[in-house]
Amino acid sequence: MSERKQAEEITGLLAAIVASSDDAIISKNLDGIITSWNKSAERIFGYTPEESIGQNITLIIPPQRLAEESDILSRIRRGDRVDHFQTVRMRKDGGLLDVSLTISPVRDSSGRVIGASKVARDITSQKQVERALRESEQRFRVITDASPVLVWMSGTDKLCYYFNKGWLDFVGRTLEQESGNGWAENVHPEDFERCLQIYVANFDARRPFEMEYRMRHRTGQYRWILDRGVPRYAPDGTFEGYVGGCLDIHDQKEAAEKVRIADDMTRLMKAQDEERRRIARELHDCAGQTLAVLGMSLAQLVRRAEGIAPELAREGKAIEEMVQQLHREIRTTSYLLHPPLLDESGLSSALNLYVDGLAERSYVAITLDVDANVGRLPSDMELAIFRLVQECLTNIHRHSGSKTAHIRVAREGESVRTEVRDHGKGISPERLLEIQSHAAGVGIRGIRERIRQFHGEMKMESNGSGTSVIVSIPIPKEVRSADSQPLQAAV
Ligand SMILES: Nc1ncnc2c1ncn2[C@@H]1O[C@H](COP(=O)(O)OP(=O)(O)OP(=O)(O)O)[C@@H](O)[C@H]1O
Ligand SMILES: [Mg+2]
Repeated sequence: MSERKQAEEITGLLAAIVASSDDAIISKNLDGIITSWNKSAERIFGYTPEESIGQNITLIIPPQRLAEESDILSRIRRGDRVDHFQTVRMRKDGGLLDVSLTISPVRDSSGRVIGASKVARDITSQKQVERALRESEQRFRVITDASPVLVWMSGTDKLCYYFNKGWLDFVGRTLEQESGNGWAENVHPEDFERCLQIYVANFDARRPFEMEYRMRHRTGQYRWILDRGVPRYAPDGTFEGYVGGCLDIHDQKEAAEKVRIADDMTRLMKAQDEERRRIARELHDCAGQTLAVLGMSLAQLVRRAEGIAPELAREGKAIEEMVQQLHREIRTTSYLLHPPLLDESGLSSALNLYVDGLAERSYVAITLDVDANVGRLPSDMELAIFRLVQECLTNIHRHSGSKTAHIRVAREGESVRTEVRDHGKGISPERLLEIQSHAAGVGIRGIRERIRQFHGEMKMESNGSGTSVIVSIPIPKEVRSADSQPLQAAV
C-alpha cells in the first residue's frame, strides 16, 4: 500500500471516529475561527456545520463568559492543554448547557501550534444530579434541624460525622466535639458498653436497631434517650453507613416508673387489707372463741371453789378478770385490723364504733358526723375511707398534740367528701411540701394511693392552729343510679 493511501485510510478512520463520537468535537484556529464541527456538536449546540464553520467560537460562549476564551487561546498558543474545564456554553436557541471541555493544541508537521481541538461533553444532567443531591442534602439538614428528634449519621467506618441541631443543643456541644467518637463522652458510663455492642453488632449485620440509654444533657442531668438506627444505602445499593433518630423519653420513663411504684403500692395495700381481714377473722373466731370458753369454764370453776376454798376462788376471780381483759383486747385488735361492722352495717356504723373505742383509749375528744345521704358505697371504697380516717386519727394522736378531732363525711354532688380536722400544732410549710412530694411517712402516701385508685383527690391544709385532711372521691355511676332507683319508683 502506498504511503499516501495509508495516510488517506488513517484520516478516513479518524474522521469516522470524530463523526461517531458522543462528545462534541470542534477545531478552531488561533484566531478562534471554527474549522470543523462534528455531528454531536450539531446535536448538542443546535448549529449545523454550515452555520458554524467559519464563525468565531464565541458563537457558543455566553456573553458573560467571553473572557474565558482569550484565556483558553493564550494557553493553547503556549502549547498547553486545558483539561476537564467545567463551564457553561450556549445553544443556538439561547439555552445554557453545563459542559466539560478538554482543549488541546493542534500542531503542523513542523510542530508549530496552528489551532486547537476541543472536546465538549454535555454534563448538564450530571450537574443536575449533583445539584439535586446538594439540594436534597440541604433539605435534609433543614428538616432535621427543625425537628425535635436528635439525628446522627455515620459513615461506613462506623464513625459519626453528622449531628443535627437538636442533638447539639441537647448535649450543648459542637459538631467537632461530637464527631468521630466524641459523642460517646455524653453516654452514661453504665450504658456505654451495652450501647456500643448493640451498635457494632447491628452495624456489621446491616440491621436496624433500637436502644435506650442515658445521655448527658447540657444541664449535666443524664436523660433517657430512645435511639433508632437504620442502614443507609445509595440509589445503586452501596452501603453508606447509618442514620439514627433519638427521642428524649426521660419524662415518660419517669412517669411510667412512678405508676409502677404506685401500682406496686396499691397491690401491697390490697394484700395487706386481705391479710388484715384474715388475721382479724382468725383472732375473732379461734383465739376469741377459745378465750370465751376459757372464761366461762373459769367462772364455773370459781363458783364451785367459792364454797370449798374461798382463797382459791379469789385468785381464780382475778384470773378470770385477766382472761376477760385479754378477750376484750383481742376483740379490739381484731376489729381494728378489720372492722367487722364495715362489711355488714356500713361505713357509718363502723366509724362510730371505731371512734368510740378510740375515744375511750386516748385523750382526744372526737366528733363524728356522717351524713345520712352518704348511704352504702362499694365495699372497697368504704374500706378506703375507713382506713383514711383511721390513719388521720392515728396521726392526730401521734403528731398533733390536739385534744380534739372532727370527722365529717358527706355527699357533695357526685362525690363523697371526707374531712378530718384537728386543733393541734400543725405542720410547717416545708414539712407539708415534703409530705406532698412523697418524701414523708407511709401513712399519707398510702391514703393518696388508695384515693388514686378511686380517681379521687386529697388536700392537706395546715397552719399553727391545726391540720385538715380533705379527701373527695367520686361515687361510681352504677352506685349513683342504684341509689336513685327506689326514689323514682316511689314517685
Ligand atoms: N395531724 C397532724 N398534725 C401534725 N403533723 C402531722 C399530722 N398528720 C401528719 N403529720 C406529719 O406528717 C408526717 C407524715 O405522716 P404519715 O402518716 O405519712 O407518716 P407517719 O405518721 O410519720 O408514719 P406512718 O408511716 O407510721 O404513718 C408525719 O410524720 C407528721 O410529721
Ligand atoms: Mg401516720
